Amino acid sequence: MIRLAVRCRPEQAEFVLAELSVLAPGGVEEVNGDGFVEYAIYGAEGELPDVGELEVATGDGLVEVVSSEVADDWADRWREFHRPVEVVGEEGETSVWLRPPWEPERPGAFEVVIDPGQAFGTGAHPTTRLSLGLLLDLHDRGLAGGALTDLGTGSAVLAIAAGKLGWSPVAGYDHEVAAIEAAVENAVVNSVEIDLQRLDLKQGLPDLAPTVVANLTAPLLEMVASQMSAENRPTTLVCSGLLETERERVEAAFAPHGLKPVEFRALDNWGGLLLEGDSPEVS
Ligand SMILES: C[S@@+](CC[C@H](N)C(=O)[O-])C[C@H]1O[C@@H](n2cnc3c(N)ncnc32)[C@H](O)[C@@H]1O
Repeated sequence: MIRLAVRCRPEQAEFVLAELSVLAPGGVEEVNGDGFVEYAIYGAEGELPDVGELEVATGDGLVEVVSSEVADDWADRWREFHRPVEVVGEEGETSVWLRPPWEPERPGAFEVVIDPGQAFGTGAHPTTRLSLGLLLDLHDRGLAGGALTDLGTGSAVLAIAAGKLGWSPVAGYDHEVAAIEAAVENAVVNSVEIDLQRLDLKQGLPDLAPTVVANLTAPLLEMVASQMSAENRPTTLVCSGLLETERERVEAAFAPHGLKPVEFRALDNWGGLLLEGDSPEVS
């Protein structure tokens, strides 16, 4: 069995993951290294993409491609690698427990079950954890509830967590067909009702709920901001996917819509931002 790992620069990680998910629809393992993000694919010789294909898919974000032999118990190791993730609220009393299906439940926690066989965000990524932490804090402040829109829903991990925390109705959007398929499956597994639709945010915004969560890159967040209007903007916005160094430009993008930064957190060079504003104008 071979483990083929592509290392890329963190700022290119989302783009590289999207490209790799086409070459490896069965899923990739993610490792956050010092100055790089590594995505690994497992397979027998002849089953894996060529190194050249991977290099093309990774573009100028490539750091290196590393190929290594792994023992035949790789399937068990894959399971060992995907450990549950716990995100604990500020007061330490509430938590979101994100687990693969084979790990036991944690009574008392808000639980989200995601199968890491899917390439679209198992929840272990720092940007997902930052977003979950901010959603959990809104819940702990008594502000969970009403409609929520998840932009760039991926596996729907944030939309599912939001549904469990009390927001309803919840809608999720993504431009990838495979993401929406995975999201639909995950919503069913977690018994959360979510309206999931394919949409390219570069082509336009859906109707936004009063609470929006958007784990996207800084340029895409800016694009989302540029398409908001007095009638179509949230009052609470949780965003992540930006680097710590991109905080000011993202805050500036949402400022014209009256959305003011209330909280900023950083994890492994990534940023998570909570913005709040007044209710949109009613026409
Ligand atoms: C960083 S992932 C976040 C996934 C998930 N929300 C999470 O927190 O784990 C960003 C998601 O945005 C989606 N995305 C990227 N560009 C998009 C676009 N132009 N329109 C809609 N979705 C997009 C990607 O397919 C991906 O699923």
